[in-house]
Order: sequence, then C-alpha cells, then structure tokens
Amino acid sequence: MKIAIMGAMPEEIEPLLSRVENVRKSEYAANTYYEAQYKGKEVVIAYSKIGKVFAAITATILIEKFGCDRLLFSGVAGAIDPDLEIGDLIIADGLCQHDLDITAFGHPHGYVPEGEVCITSDVYLRDVAKKIAAQKGLPLKEGVIATGDQFVANHEKKSWIAEIFNAHALEMEGASVAVVCNALNIPFFILRAISDSADMDAGFDFDTFLESSAKVSADFILDMVEAIEH
Ligand code: ADE
Repeated sequence: MKIAIMGAMPEEIEPLLSRVENVRKSEYAANTYYEAQYKGKEVVIAYSKIGKVFAAITATILIEKFGCDRLLFSGVAGAIDPDLEIGDLIIADGLCQHDLDITAFGHPHGYVPEGEVCITSDVYLRDVAKKIAAQKGLPLKEGVIATGDQFVANHEKKSWIAEIFNAHALEMEGASVAVVCNALNIPFFILRAISDSADMDAGFDFDTFLESSAKVSADFILDMVEAIEH
C-alpha cells in the first residue's frame, strides 16, 4: 500500500511534512513530491497549486509515476452549510464541478457526456474517518463538495451552488481529483476544514484561518493514514 496525500497549497502540506519520517524530495513536471513514511506506512505528499487543472496533473502523477494506490486530499474549504464553522471538518461523499456548464445543449449543470455530475468517494476511507472522529469526539460532517476554478466570495454564487448541487462546502480541486481517481480506479477521500463561509468576508477569513484550518485537516489525515488497513 502506498498512500498519496495531496493538498493544493504549501500551507496544506506543511503540517504533514513536519510529522512524517525519512523524507525524500524529488521534482517532476514543475512540482515537488515528498516520499516519506508515517507509522510504518509509505506515503507520497505533494501540493498541486490551486485549481482543477493543477490538481488533476498532481493526482495523475502521484498515481502513475509514484505508484500510489490510494489518495487522500487534505485542505480547506468555504462553508455552504450554515452549521459549518471555521475549523470544522467535512468529508465529501460526492464531488461535482460547479463551473462545468454545457446547459446550452440541454445537459444539467456539472455534466458532460460520458461523465457524471457527482463522483462518489471511497466508502471504506470515509468509514475510517468516521471511526476516528467518533473516537476523538470530533464533529465530522459528510456531504457534497462542489469544486470550481473560482474563489467564491459572494452570497448569490454560493446560494446558486447550494441550490443546484445540494453542496455543503466548496473549494477548487476536489472534483478534479475525483475524476482522475475514478478514471484510474484508485480509492480516494477528500477532507476539508472550513476556512471561510464563501461570502463577502471570505477573502479576509481565508487569509486569517488558512494555516490553522489546514493543520486541523492535516492532523486528521495522519490519523487516517495510521488507521487505514486496506
Ligand atoms: N477554498 C477555501 N475557501 C474557498 C472559497 N471561498 N472559494 C473557493 N475555494 C475555497
């Protein structure tokens, strides 16, 4: 078993890199990859840079070049669900692309022929997460995460995404990682800690809470790495 752990930004993987052992760094395709060990398990850690295209490249390389057979994503998200507060954790049961739009041809938002509006994440990995959350007494929300190449800081946009996709949170990479893992048959899991509520104050809150929320997510991911049995 070799577990890929991905983030989008340096801040999302730094709390991982500071806790793993025997780190070997390499450069490939304009990105840095860190092969390492955690509690006896092989991991490969990388941040992709922001957005769906960069995330798809990194996920593909983690799988095809580094041989990872599971992928965990750790990072931050904007909340849609009003129950979610800054620092709260959400796992994606499904991921959709809110900015994918060929509705002009009669298709639903987020759909292109031979694709799916919503891609489901791995059930076993979600179960591992739920067990850890229960053991630690941590609230863990599960729901749809909507992905798009936009930082959302606008109430109308956020409400539209909520309504069209029944989404609980939004970010800029998860669904593209889901598309890659789904195509390559690799179990994947997307975890996010809330950094902002995707409205007027989102830019300020994101800057303020990126580091602390990214650490909440990263610490949880390492507990998962330890607990994953297959
Ligand atoms: N990631 C964290 N907050 C976000 C937001 N408001 N929009 C898009 N991606 C995000």
